[in-house]
Amino acid sequence: TKKIGIVTGGGDCPGLNAVIRALVKAGALYGWECLGIHGGFDGLLTPVKAVPLALKDMDGLLIRGGTILGTANSGRFSAKTGHGQTRRVPQKILDEAKTNFDAMDISALVAIGGDGTLTIAQQMFEMGFPVVGVPKTIDNDLDATQTTFGFDTAVACAVDALDRLHSTAQSHNRVMVLEVMGRYAGWIAAYAGLAGGADVILIPEIGFTYDSIQRKILSREAEGKHFTIVIVAEGAAPGGKGFVTSNKTGNDREVRLGGIGHMVAMEIESQSQKETRCVVLGHLQRGGQPTQWDRQLCTRFGVHAFQMIVQKQFGFMVALKENGMMGPVTLKDAINKIRRVDPAGELVMTARALGISFGD
Ligand code: F6P
Repeated sequence: TKKIGIVTGGGDCPGLNAVIRALVKAGALYGWECLGIHGGFDGLLTPVKAVPLALKDMDGLLIRGGTILGTANSGRFSAKTGHGQTRRVPQKILDEAKTNFDAMDISALVAIGGDGTLTIAQQMFEMGFPVVGVPKTIDNDLDATQTTFGFDTAVACAVDALDRLHSTAQSHNRVMVLEVMGRYAGWIAAYAGLAGGADVILIPEIGFTYDSIQRKILSREAEGKHFTIVIVAEGAAPGGKGFVTSNKTGNDREVRLGGIGHMVAMEIESQSQKETRCVVLGHLQRGGQPTQWDRQLCTRFGVHAFQMIVQKQFGFMVALKENGMMGPVTLKDAINKIRRVDPAGELVMTARALGISFGD
């Protein structure tokens, strides 16, 4: 049969619906049907939650945030990842899903997700699921693709916040600290910091000291600039410790509740004696409409994933290659390498050339 199952896993992300729409529309032209698996991979467990996706259901989905299929970060399927550690999904969960999957007579399963979801997808592929992956994450931390969808939208949100913080920081002669997401990687902070004219960018890849931030604030004061904008990635930490995890399950609770931004703001205020405020941007970065870049990227990912299904190219993820074209990479390669900001790379060097401080 020509039937595709579509599942969205992990945290939501702007553009998920645009990928679903592209798959359904491309498939419909060639007589393929799509089934939406609801609530992440758990939707494959009894009682199965699979609903046909008709063409008319796709209206307006190009720009709608979130996922119409729902998603789950933790569930019976959850295979937590983090710092390269992975917990495998129990075999009996996979067996139950496989029995249900086969009963639905689906010929391909598209898994749209980040490293956690794709790790599960690889395990499913190894036990016979015909899986194709699509790389989603606002963190942009997958090495196998030039970029993931959702990242551009998250950066746009952070830049908008920086623009707004500039005017209020300037009016009050304050230090403003903006905490952004990104997990183990500093991509959102680095790109948004550059695009939003931050004075200090703190990322997990570069350990910072408060003395160094203080020096930057003082040098700005000496130039007659009485406000400073600091952007800090949630995973950043003083002294080069990198990402802070509160436990070994990868739950990263302290980070998710927004910790480092407040810590940095408090330290800066006591050292500099300047009024300091902190904003934790949080899930605003994941909500709302995808940018035009993410819309076209999602559409291309979706159509290319469909083409991979037609060619029975399973166990692969669609990726944006260095030459700017779509192409396949094995799921195995995709999940094995996290990409982080290169402290000696062009992005950081460009920022430094402008006098932006990384707090080191
Ligand atoms: O991986 C995407 C992400 O938004 C990270 O940037 C962040 O650390 C985490 O997910 C937050 O997860 P949750 O939605 O569980 O709070």
